[in-house]
Amino acid sequence: MAHETVFAMESSAIKFGPGATREIGDDVQVRGCRRVMLLTDPRLTDGPIMDTARVALDDAGVEYDIFDDIYVEPTDYSFRAAIEFAVEGGYDGFVAVGGGSVMDTAKAANLYSTHPAEFLAYVTKPIGEGRPVPGPLKPFIAVPTTAGTGSETTGNAVLDFPEFGTKTAIAHRYLRPSLGVIDPDNVRDLPPMVTACSGLDVLCHALESYTAVPFDQRPAPEKPHLRTPYQGANPVANIWSAEAIRIGARHLVDAVNDRDAASARGQMLLASTLAGIGFGNAGVHLPHALSYPISRLSRDYFPPDYPHDHSLVPHGMSVALTAPAIFRWTADAAPDAHRQAALLLGASPTEVDESNAGEVLADIFTGIMKATGMPNGLKGVGITETDLDALVAGTLPQQRLLVISPKQPTEADIRQLFADSMTLW
Ligand SMILES: NC(=O)c1ccc[n+]([C@@H]2O[C@H](COP(=O)([O-])OP(=O)(O)OC[C@H]3O[C@@H](n4cnc5c(N)ncnc54)[C@H](O)[C@@H]3O)[C@@H](O)[C@H]2O)c1
Ligand SMILES: [Fe+2]
Repeated sequence: MAHETVFAMESSAIKFGPGATREIGDDVQVRGCRRVMLLTDPRLTDGPIMDTARVALDDAGVEYDIFDDIYVEPTDYSFRAAIEFAVEGGYDGFVAVGGGSVMDTAKAANLYSTHPAEFLAYVTKPIGEGRPVPGPLKPFIAVPTTAGTGSETTGNAVLDFPEFGTKTAIAHRYLRPSLGVIDPDNVRDLPPMVTACSGLDVLCHALESYTAVPFDQRPAPEKPHLRTPYQGANPVANIWSAEAIRIGARHLVDAVNDRDAASARGQMLLASTLAGIGFGNAGVHLPHALSYPISRLSRDYFPPDYPHDHSLVPHGMSVALTAPAIFRWTADAAPDAHRQAALLLGASPTEVDESNAGEVLADIFTGIMKATGMPNGLKGVGITETDLDALVAGTLPQQRLLVISPKQPTEADIRQLFADSMTLW
């Protein structure tokens, strides 16, 4: 196998600052759009963030239809409803105002209405065919309201596939928004549990991309254009990930616990975009791969601040639940990266060295989970040892993420990582 020698860096264009949402009418217009599909979360439709978005579009003379029939943690069914709306509307652009659930739905609506295909065509292998997107999509402006997924910078759209008992993704660089509008005003009133879960997602994006297998230990692509955005850790992605870890360590707990929350949440929004650029070019690995079956297998778990129409383990929580066990296990494959990550997360240089880096990193991360109100392990969300087979079965299709791990797990290893995550403290 020839090893990779090159890495690339791509991102959406981004703009950051309080009041940036007021500029989206102009942003849409200069991209040549006159009639757009405006996707948002049903909880936000009648609120102040959407008021600002509507006024901005009205003032610029841009027409729009609002679509807010969006599931929190969207399913294939919910993606299809948005695609149908987009096809019928024949829009010349897309605007999303919401969290990852809304931005990812907008990516799917843009993709399938621009390049129609059977639903499974673009879905990642092995659940779908993994067909590459044939060409650029229509202009898409993403306005995140959680801090967050970083979806405003990435080419991923994550969906839950109840039929297959797990989540998967559609992933291609053409799915990237044309512009991410990152406005701290939009996260000022983010509820504590949403702040906690989306903030732990930020930390995991950054920690996973920082500790990922190095890009030059991965196989070279057959052709340059087949180089995947998930390239493994590399010097440029590391810059973004490191800064996101540093900001998250400093501000996440305050953002959740309402200590100077507006400013701390604004900092977490910045961290979420930085982490998005980091993991969008390096990739995430085992905590994300293992997270995808967790939500589906949870029982009677209804976290505060989320809709209560079905049992839900929010994405960031599901990722965090196995992260401590994973970092303990992966550290010996990349001891220096784990040591650096522990230092960025707040370890003192005298307490961490290459021999205890995984342990220290896991302990600090667990402390943050406690301070942000996370449940104590998988048992806390209604999952038990009887679910181990289904958890492993839902993880194995996540090849895109498993190959980014610094240490390749066997089926038995994956099972053990879940078993070690049943109770965390
Ligand atoms: N595309 C990517 O790269 C990527 C990365 C990570 C996660 N994801 C996916 O994103 C989804 C999770 O997104 P999320 O964590 O951003 O949350 P979300 O979009 O699911 O929203 C969570 C809850 O917060 C509420 N909410 C959102 N903004 C709010 C605001 N400003 N004020 C008050 N309430 C608000 C929503 O109504 C919802 O109930 C999952 O499906 C996950 O798999 C995608
Ligand atoms: Fe994530």
